[in-house]
Amino acid sequence: MKITIISGSHRVNAQSLKVAKFIQTQLEDGLCDEAPILSLADNPLPLWDQGVWDGDEKWTALLTPLKEQLASSDGFVVITPEWHGQVPAGLKNLFLLCSKNELGHKPAMIVAVSSGDGGAYPIAELRMSSYKNNRLCYIPEQIIIRNVEQVLNEDAKENNQRSDTFYRERITWALGILKEYTSALAQVRNSGATQTDKFNNGM
Ligand SMILES: Cc1cc2nc3c(=O)[nH]c(=O)nc-3n(C[C@H](O)[C@H](O)[C@H](O)COP(=O)(O)O)c2cc1C
Repeated sequence: MKITIISGSHRVNAQSLKVAKFIQTQLEDGLCDEAPILSLADNPLPLWDQGVWDGDEKWTALLTPLKEQLASSDGFVVITPEWHGQVPAGLKNLFLLCSKNELGHKPAMIVAVSSGDGGAYPIAELRMSSYKNNRLCYIPEQIIIRNVEQVLNEDAKENNQRSDTFYRERITWALGILKEYTSALAQVRNSGATQTDKFNNGM
């Protein structure tokens, strides 16, 4: 089982990436075989342009390895910081560049990250608008990490012990649920019911 962790922050030293690395260690500690991190730090993907649909060589070279990585994944963790009450543009751009061929009918757990008391807006945004055509399946369990600087740090002295203990337990529990959805939804894809040449886009 391969669960890819998408870290949606553009910042190089992002808290989202810190959270991604913690989740990676939890997943690789017996929950799945592989848990690679796909980080959007430093904006590795240009904004969508018409060349994506016209098959420009530039885009083919960039997207082929990305699509292979996503298509070979059985499930996802989507980590989004809250930026001005939104999902960062680079993460929304990733969803423009991906299709049901890579993400369709695979489970994803959302993890929102905030340095303050935020985190609800990007969850609502992802659940409302990021899955229609690619058919990614967000599971009901989600994580909102508030005051993120105070938790999940390697140096225990930097952590608020009470919050840190809570988040570590809660994340591990939620990842166990994601694992079961990942097994279950493989059956849905393997059933053949989701395959169609007629209904390429969601309604
Ligand atoms: C452009 C920008 C806008 C932000 N807006 C918000 C916000 O609206 N609400 C919030 O809780 N935090 C906001 N933050 C702070 C983030 O919560 C903080 O950077 C946190 O560490 C998560 O982002 P990161 O993964 O990029 O580090 C903002 C940060 C940036 C860089």
